[in-house]
Amino acid sequence: MKLLSVTLKHFKPYWRGLLLAFGCSLIGGAFTVIPPILAGKLVDEILPNKMTDMMGWLVAGVFFAFLFKIVFESLQEFIQVQIGLDVITDMQLRAFGRLHKTPMSFFTTTPRGDMLYRLTHDVEAVQNLNNTVIPRFIQQVVSAVAAFIAVFALYWPVAIVMFAVFAIYLYPSFKLGRTMRKMSAVQRDMSADIYHHLQESIESTRLVRTFQTQNREVQTQDKKLTAWKNFSIRAALIGKVNWRLGNLFNIATPGVVMVVGGLAVWNHSISVGTLVACLGFIPTMFFPIRSLAENALVIQQAIPALQRIYEYFDLPVEHEENLPKMGDIRGDIKVDDLWFRYPDKEEYVLKGVSLTMEAGQHIGIVGTSGGGKSTLIQLLLGLYEPEKGRIEIDQQNLFAYNRNSFRQQVGVVSQETFLLNNTLRMNLLYGRKNATQNELERACEAAGLTDFIAALPEGYETIVGERGLKLSGGQRQRVALARAILRHPALLIFDEATSSLDGETEERVQSALESLIPGRTTITIAHRLVTVRDADKILLLDKGVVAEEGTHDELLSLKGQYYQLYMAQYSELEKERAI
Ligand SMILES: Nc1ncnc2c1ncn2[C@@H]1O[C@H](COP(=O)(O)OP(=O)(O)OP(=O)(O)O)[C@@H](O)[C@H]1O
Ligand SMILES: [Mg+2]
Repeated sequence: MKLLSVTLKHFKPYWRGLLLAFGCSLIGGAFTVIPPILAGKLVDEILPNKMTDMMGWLVAGVFFAFLFKIVFESLQEFIQVQIGLDVITDMQLRAFGRLHKTPMSFFTTTPRGDMLYRLTHDVEAVQNLNNTVIPRFIQQVVSAVAAFIAVFALYWPVAIVMFAVFAIYLYPSFKLGRTMRKMSAVQRDMSADIYHHLQESIESTRLVRTFQTQNREVQTQDKKLTAWKNFSIRAALIGKVNWRLGNLFNIATPGVVMVVGGLAVWNHSISVGTLVACLGFIPTMFFPIRSLAENALVIQQAIPALQRIYEYFDLPVEHEENLPKMGDIRGDIKVDDLWFRYPDKEEYVLKGVSLTMEAGQHIGIVGTSGGGKSTLIQLLLGLYEPEKGRIEIDQQNLFAYNRNSFRQQVGVVSQETFLLNNTLRMNLLYGRKNATQNELERACEAAGLTDFIAALPEGYETIVGERGLKLSGGQRQRVALARAILRHPALLIFDEATSSLDGETEERVQSALESLIPGRTTITIAHRLVTVRDADKILLLDKGVVAEEGTHDELLSLKGQYYQLYMAQYSELEKERAI
């Protein structure tokens, strides 16, 4: 029922068009009734009275009845296809929009292939329904009802008999429909899973080749496909049973009508012409009813697709959008006793982390891998909510504001760089579409990209490849850096932003960044301690706890974890220099 109400809501804006379409199908249905009635007249009046001059009118009547039927039904189909496409694009956009608002945790737990399948194939299934099945379904219902009324008016016992025969036919078909719906739901889940595996396997082709797992990949796909195939064969068989059942009734109906109608002619209850007309109504009634049963099956099959799309309408939203917007921020940040664990996880990733930084400061965060550094940034961006603790931006609770308005003022270079398969220019301008060429060049200069871009034959217009794969890891990272800088954010966050650069390039980029950093609040996460040596304050995050805190010199003199880390790296540096 919910399914119906959600669907109707989507069709509501187009009610005028739908009404028009329905009107057309009514008129089309009315014309269906004319030919059999004319056939009856032929037998009863025209032939016995030898009214030869009426023959032309009769032929014209049949011809125009069909012509008008076709015209009106085509018109109905056209209107409905248009509305169907409108509705389907609305639905797709709504699901897609919702996906972009749902909490991040959804994306870490849902297979990407499944999301894509819903937004493409499931939408397509519904589209097919909208374009052909439903318009015809309406025509069929209208034609069948019109024919039934006509037969009823001619000789009602025949109508009752016909109705009974069709009811016997329709009942098992509707029963089958329910089974089909369940099977189709399973089939869709299976297809989505196959799609997901295909997509993941193709995307990770480098991994597959380096680990030589091609055969395993193909075998997995084979297993999934075979299971799907066997299941689909069963589903198809049930569909065929329905079809055969239809054939059986195709033979039975005229027989029953002939017996009942023939007896009536015998008893002089009806004329021969009326019997002919009744027989003539069998196809006009039977074909619609038959395809009605088949289309009901198709509709049942498409319902799971619709349900899968609708599930996305109900996804939770990350945050209320009507919260007040955060004005221009200065960059004071206060994190107080933050406790956090990922959804469905037992273990806390952050255990009472606190941090204060004033606008304009540069904070470094270092620590063991898996210590919770990137997680802290995700929370700071409001991508996840803490279980306990506060995050204040300029003395205001971050979670009381529309987080998008805060994120707009932050430039982030995350540990994994995401580039779009587009030109370098489009990738760089991603965060700020209207930046000038001058600003673009300055950002590239700071990120150490100028020489690289100058050496490219197509310069800024070079296509970077799927996920930036045509660039080296370091080049990708520098593009991400320039992209963040170009935003002129009040707060800059670098999560291992220079980790893929060689020592020399890193130093150059670092000093360029430093010229940018004064006056701008910056958080830098780094494994190489030299990267954060000049920071105003360094935090050492270990297993979700701030283990040490202070400037580089203070931390060294503590002779604790930081000191040991630094010594280990320092000797490495020394060795490198000695060679
Ligand atoms: N989306 C997630 N769902 C569940 N657990 C996660 C998720 N992301 C990270 N974790 C876990 O949280 C812990 C902290 O991860 P985090 O990425 O914050 O570490 P990090 O300090 O940034 O490490 P690195 O220096 O290696 O980048 C890890 O144990 C990790 O397994
Ligand atoms: Mg990290």
